[in-house]
Amino acid sequence: MTGVPPAAGQTWDPGRYVREAGFVAELGVPLLDLLAPVAGEHILDLGCGDGRLTRRISDRGAQVVGVDASIEFVEAARVAGIDARLADGHDLRFGPDFDAVFSNAALHWMKRPDAVAAGVFGALKPGGRFVGECGGAGNVRTIRAALGKALAAEGVDAVAVDPWYFPTDAEYRDVLTRAGFIVEHIGLFPRLTDLPGSVADWLGVFGRAFLDGLDPAARQRVVTQVTEATHTRLSRSEGGRTVWTADYVRLRFQARKPV
Ligand code: BEZ
Repeated sequence: MTGVPPAAGQTWDPGRYVREAGFVAELGVPLLDLLAPVAGEHILDLGCGDGRLTRRISDRGAQVVGVDASIEFVEAARVAGIDARLADGHDLRFGPDFDAVFSNAALHWMKRPDAVAAGVFGALKPGGRFVGECGGAGNVRTIRAALGKALAAEGVDAVAVDPWYFPTDAEYRDVLTRAGFIVEHIGLFPRLTDLPGSVADWLGVFGRAFLDGLDPAARQRVVTQVTEATHTRLSRSEGGRTVWTADYVRLRFQARKPV
C-alpha cells in the first residue's frame, strides 16, 4: 500500500497515458529550456509522471529526483531509470538540497497550493529556482463547461468532484510570494493543443475523477454529451479524419528563493 492518496481522486494508467498524452512531455520542452539545467545540479521534478521529461533533465547532466502521488507513475518512471519516489506534493519533506524544482503539467492537480509552495521552498537551496507550468485560469473551459452540464443531468455536482486547480497569474503570484519566493516571471497564455485521439479519449485519461464514480451507462451518457457539446468548437476535419483540440491555457512561471 502506498500511504499517499492519488492526487485529487485522479488515477492513472501509464500505458494509456503514453497513447493519449504523449504530447504533455513533448510540449514541456520549452519549460525545460527555461529551467536550463546545468550538469551537476540537483533538481527535483514535482509530479514527474512516467518520467519522460525527467529523463531529459538528467540527459543534460543534472541529478534528478522525481516525485509523484501515483504509484503507477512512480513505477513507470523507475523503469525509465529515474530515481522516482512516491510523495504527495502537498506534503513534501525535503530539506534545502535542490538547486531547482521543476514541475510540468502537475500543479493543477494540487488543490492546496500554499502547502505545495511551502514544500517546494523548503526543498530549495538559498538562491534556488522554481520553474513550473500548469493549467491556468480558463484552461479547458469548453470541456469543463460541457462536463458540468452533463454531470448535472446525472445529478452530480461537478464542482464537488472537480480535481483541477487553474489559478490566474495574479493568484499564483500571491501563492509564490506568500511562500517567500521572489517571482521573476509569471504569465498566462492560450495553447490550443491537438489531441492524438478524441475528447472521449482525453476524458478517459484526464477526466477520471469526474467519471469514475458513475455507473457505466451514466458514464457513457456523460462522455457522449460532452462529445456532442464540444465537437463544433473543438474538432475539425483534416485529411479525411477528425482532429480534436483541447482549449488549454497555460500558466508558466519562474520564481527564486532569496539567498
Ligand atoms: C493540463 O492543463 O495539462 C490539464 C489540466 C487538467 C486536466 C488535464 C490536463
